[in-house]
Amino acid sequence: MNSTRGRLTKDGIRIYEPKDFVCMAKAGHVAATILDEIAPHIFVGQTTGEIDRIITGMVIAHGAKSATIGYKGYQHASCISVNHVVCHGIPADKRIKEGDILNIDVTVILDGWFGDTSRMYVAGKLARRSERLIQVTHDALFKGISAVKPGNTFGDIGNAIQTYVEEHRMSVVKDFCGHGLGQVFHAPPNVLHYGRPGTGPVLEEGMFFTIEPMVNLGRPETKVLADDWTAVTRDKSLSAQFEHSVGVTSQGFEIFTLSPTDTFHPTYK
Ligand code: MF3
Ligand code: CO
Ligand code: CO
Repeated sequence: MNSTRGRLTKDGIRIYEPKDFVCMAKAGHVAATILDEIAPHIFVGQTTGEIDRIITGMVIAHGAKSATIGYKGYQHASCISVNHVVCHGIPADKRIKEGDILNIDVTVILDGWFGDTSRMYVAGKLARRSERLIQVTHDALFKGISAVKPGNTFGDIGNAIQTYVEEHRMSVVKDFCGHGLGQVFHAPPNVLHYGRPGTGPVLEEGMFFTIEPMVNLGRPETKVLADDWTAVTRDKSLSAQFEHSVGVTSQGFEIFTLSPTDTFHPTYK
């Protein structure tokens, strides 16, 4: 793999070149298209395992490779996190029930570039508190993205997310974070979804990373189950997450994983 592109900052964050934005946009487009295409396959009675099998086929159909199959022993093309599962839910033969909320997270590799995105889906009738959680999490991601511009810091991004979530009396998960990506899946920096303004590395044009806040209706604490992947809320409260891959531009940001059919948000178009 060519990891000699561009240069590294003193914080070890890679600065990519203008032409690399095109490669990221193509990879991100595939990941986002798959999340668009999977929507009709989510319904009460469906299994998360079947959803993952469909995603596996879609990744191939788009000429891409799954970044997660074989990653640290993970064996699926998606993570599907239902209700109180915070992230890294393993697809299985359990059926989706009325009112379940689920996050589907897909990462693909296209021509060596990584596209990583996740969003929320609902099955059947949505409870009001689930709807509120999903709305606040979605909007928190965009508060974070709005803080992306050269000269701001990663602490500014985290602070924008944390402030918004806590104003709504919900909690930000601190045990998992976003990450740099590009021609690798996970690279510096850790993109925290909480923090203080003006702290952390300074954003520069050409940085690529994800922002992927997880928000809980209850307390922020999580634990990982015995399968070594599934992260759940300790208090069993509902959790939601949205993720975009972004690049820093001279004026602000480019989102690489925008939904081609504008269906990133599950309930309000
Ligand atoms: N896509 C996840 C992320 O946002 C990582 C999943 S790793 C896996 O970083 F192995 F659990 F799939
Ligand atoms: Co990610
Ligand atoms: Co992801």
